[in-house]
Amino acid sequence: MKLQHKVAVITGAASGIGAATAQLFAAEGASVVVADKDEAAAQQVAQALPVRAGSYAVAMPVDVADSSSVQQLLHSTHEQFGRVDVLVNNAGFGLASTVEHTSEEDWARIMRVNVDGVFFGCKYAIPLMREQGGGVIVNTASVAGLVGLRDRAAYCASKGAVIALTRAMALDHAAENIRINCVAPGTVQSPYFTDMLAKADDPQALLQQLSARQPVMRLGQPEEIAKAILFLASADSSFSIGSVLVADGGLTAA
Ligand SMILES: NC(=O)c1ccc[n+]([C@@H]2O[C@H](COP(=O)([O-])OP(=O)(O)OC[C@H]3O[C@@H](n4cnc5c(N)ncnc54)[C@H](O)[C@@H]3O)[C@@H](O)[C@H]2O)c1
Repeated sequence: MKLQHKVAVITGAASGIGAATAQLFAAEGASVVVADKDEAAAQQVAQALPVRAGSYAVAMPVDVADSSSVQQLLHSTHEQFGRVDVLVNNAGFGLASTVEHTSEEDWARIMRVNVDGVFFGCKYAIPLMREQGGGVIVNTASVAGLVGLRDRAAYCASKGAVIALTRAMALDHAAENIRINCVAPGTVQSPYFTDMLAKADDPQALLQQLSARQPVMRLGQPEEIAKAILFLASADSSFSIGSVLVADGGLTAA
């Protein structure tokens, strides 16, 4: 098992990529903190995890846009489990809009969750990790941080910031045995995506367009991204520092 005796906190773990990561981490022997602003859904995910003997799964509420809430999450985890070995800063959301049609409120909201959320998680996990002799942080970025996508201006900016922040932090903390990397998924069939599709004028046409954008001609599955996150969270990636692991069905290779 790749995460035996490890304590992992995953934000946005009540759904989609985060929930699939919680499943995989538990199966790999980790004690998992399923952290999400949707407390009821987080409880459901935590209760269904395939927890190994000697490990635990708990749900904890968090709003990653709120510094004190993130501090509370990490403090409670440390108090309950004695350490924080892995932090996956995964909570985030997308916004379909051009810059002209993005309201100032929406711009502030997406930056607050997608960027500040990662900043807060790292800011308050790093001292705990340093004190215990090391740790691993994996941030969920997106291909939207690597290339421009139409009608996703604010989202692209937020994920570009996550990638830049990941690289800079990785340099600052490499010598402290704290490895920081990120994943850049392409379009993945998570509940977020399904909701977006349902709201589209022509869901079938949008599905076809987004699938065709990826050379594999299909959407990714949350479990495929969870495997990339597991690689970065485990000792398998011991030489990866500040890297961006792309899992996008070839979208950015085209
Ligand atoms: N689905 C995709 O195509 C795709 C592609 C690239 C990157 N991503 C990124 O992957 C991550 C997970 O997305 P997903 O597709 O699984 O979405 P999802 O909507 O299925 O899951 C996101 C989870 O994050 C939680 N969340 C949102 N805001 C939060 C906050 N402020 N505090 C705490 N929890 C919060 C939600 O309650 C939800 O449970 C996001 O960062 C997203 O930007 C998704």
